[in-house]
Amino acid sequence: MQRRHFLGTLAAVSVFPHDGFGQTSTSRLVAGVHRQQVLPAGYPGTEMWSFDAAFPGTALRARQGDRLAVTVENQLPQATSVHWHGLRLENGMDGVPGLTQAPIAKGASFDYDFALPDAGTYWYHSHAKSMEQIERGLYGPLIINEIDPPDVDQDITLMIDDIRLEQDGSFAAFDNFHDLSHAGRIGNLWLANGQIDPAYPLKRGERVRVRLINAANARVFTLGLQGFDGWVVALDGMPLNDPQALPEELVLAPAQRVDLIVDVTTDDEEAFLITFERDGGYAIAHFPVSGPSKAARSEKVILPPNPDFPIDLANARTATLLIEGGAMGGMRAARLDGQELGARELAGRGLFWALNGVAGRPETPLLDLSLGESARIGMANNTAFPHGMHLHGMHFSEVLADGSLGPLRDTILLNPQETREIAFQAHNPGDWLFHCHMLAHHQAGMGSWIRVSA
Ligand code: C2O
Ligand code: CU
Repeated sequence: MQRRHFLGTLAAVSVFPHDGFGQTSTSRLVAGVHRQQVLPAGYPGTEMWSFDAAFPGTALRARQGDRLAVTVENQLPQATSVHWHGLRLENGMDGVPGLTQAPIAKGASFDYDFALPDAGTYWYHSHAKSMEQIERGLYGPLIINEIDPPDVDQDITLMIDDIRLEQDGSFAAFDNFHDLSHAGRIGNLWLANGQIDPAYPLKRGERVRVRLINAANARVFTLGLQGFDGWVVALDGMPLNDPQALPEELVLAPAQRVDLIVDVTTDDEEAFLITFERDGGYAIAHFPVSGPSKAARSEKVILPPNPDFPIDLANARTATLLIEGGAMGGMRAARLDGQELGARELAGRGLFWALNGVAGRPETPLLDLSLGESARIGMANNTAFPHGMHLHGMHFSEVLADGSLGPLRDTILLNPQETREIAFQAHNPGDWLFHCHMLAHHQAGMGSWIRVSA
């Protein structure tokens, strides 16, 4: 309300950068242990690992063009690191232990400090023992505001998750070979912002920006927003040039995000965020609606574009990525540290997946690119499970069947037996992880990397 009033009277302000444009927002995040009531009332609370004793952690907000400086202090019982998922930042700040930094030891801290070239919806999460640390709660939203943000009445971020708890509130065991070799760690409790079916009151006719972030270990959510009309305006943080009408179902793989700008159009008392599962649809958040307060707007919103790094498909370097392994997959052997090992030996070390015949992060990158060069990677999922492949540091486009390029993304879902091709311009120098964001799969071997040399 307040903000809209200001926008109406101070349109000129955005031309003159004022409160801190080009400056550094400074924060401190303490990774530690806290208790939270996650199971319904009446059940015991849960010991979470989290940032700033909150699950999800503090929402970090900054403005496009600024810098973000975050000191992460580790008060966990083990080493950690923080990855700023989806940000096209400098390599040394990417938070990958063993590739871009040393892990932050228990009791130590690390100063992250990076520029923010892109606006959009991102998230931050632990990148050490991620299957366990993210499941235990080490993640939070990272929102980079546009210099000239769209006019909305409310801006709601929903971090969708499913975690697996026991009846006593504790986390189900993590040393589970079934999770590692099948779909990953699928939860038994659906959460939005750490709560079961939370409520966000809205007024009829209001325009709402909804930022959906899939923070789950492995679940691919099929989501529906009921009681609204509007558009999908961004995917994985990146604005769509041509926003799409809100579809009935939005498929969100782990780590993917979608930004919606929607109007509350229902005549009912409630609107819903639904997850469609095999056996039906369930509300994972709801929106009590009151009003009428205002007439719904109808003009479509196009977010301002982020910096563009055009892809030269014709002259691109190419690579292929064969995804193998898992139960019912029949991977016979794979290389580990330069040695050929049989499936049984690999399983003994908790490894079940291979990329191009290598289990775990290989010594040499999948591609060694020069700055500015374009690349294409054809991927084949030769397994019985879905995988969400995520590239750090740069967004890519899918090369569609007709040869055109799809929207920019940082994570792409490959269903069983699917083949997909992605392309990108190597505009960001450094060593960038390229891995499955089904965290059990990454732990069990599905991780490669790409080098961009300046
Ligand atoms: Cu969301 Cu390798 O990260
Ligand atoms: Cu996977």
